[in-house]
Amino acid sequence: MAQLIDGKKISQEIKDELKEKVKELKGQGIEGALAVIQVGSDPASSVYVRNKKRACEYIGIRSESYELPEDTTEKELLTLIEKLNKDPKINGILCQLPVPAHMDENKIIRTIAPEKDVDGFHTQNVGALVVGQQGFVSCTPAGVIQLLKRSGIEIAGKNCVVVGRSNIVGKPMALLMLRENATVTICHSRTADLKAMCKQADILIVAVGKPKMITAEYVKEGATVIDVGIHRQEDGKLCGDVDFEQVEPVAGAITPVPGGVGPMTIAMLMNNCVEAMAR
Ligand code: GUN
Repeated sequence: MAQLIDGKKISQEIKDELKEKVKELKGQGIEGALAVIQVGSDPASSVYVRNKKRACEYIGIRSESYELPEDTTEKELLTLIEKLNKDPKINGILCQLPVPAHMDENKIIRTIAPEKDVDGFHTQNVGALVVGQQGFVSCTPAGVIQLLKRSGIEIAGKNCVVVGRSNIVGKPMALLMLRENATVTICHSRTADLKAMCKQADILIVAVGKPKMITAEYVKEGATVIDVGIHRQEDGKLCGDVDFEQVEPVAGAITPVPGGVGPMTIAMLMNNCVEAMAR
């Protein structure tokens, strides 16, 4: 049986460590606050935003909510971000994505001050990751690194295959695994023989957004399998990009969905908020 990588437990550990750190910082007179912006009322976004605010409350930092109507103009949103950039009481700014279609997502990300960009989406933070300098790292990939490290899974020297090349997960994931001295391959929809590539992986990280796409045939015996996907099935249950029932008997270690990568994203967001506070 594969080792089950427990994201719920590990994210709780991290949040408890951060709670202590926040206490220490407050003892030195340093306060923290995260501004959370949501445009429109997409139900999935509302759930994420609520969980992010709850996590702030748990670790002891203040959150400020900005719930803007769907028909907010891009200019109005940018004006709000610029105001928050200048506000010395705010040390983190997060605009929940996706924003409505009439807004330019890249422009919004670019407008958030890099030193308050706790999502790690600004090109300055992405660039810092590329060249190995300090900056905020995208939360989901940072969470995967913590899952591996805290589960005792060796990364250095291992063959790592990342399936998916999004700006939020795939690309920063590959860079982080490289920083940890893995040999990294990025695969995507145009990869010639995806099965053969995946089968080479000691650590297989999947972020493609296709339910149960990775079956046992993709996985080397004993490999570590990290599933970033989350999908609601017709029967109401959640599943990932990996066919868990099929892959679990082959894998050496595996993340479940739910309870694997998911809870780590918010824990790492809180980590970035505390870092913003401490800087
Ligand atoms: N939408 C989906 N994931 C994320 C995230 O990590 N941050 C933000 N801001 N929006 C998202």
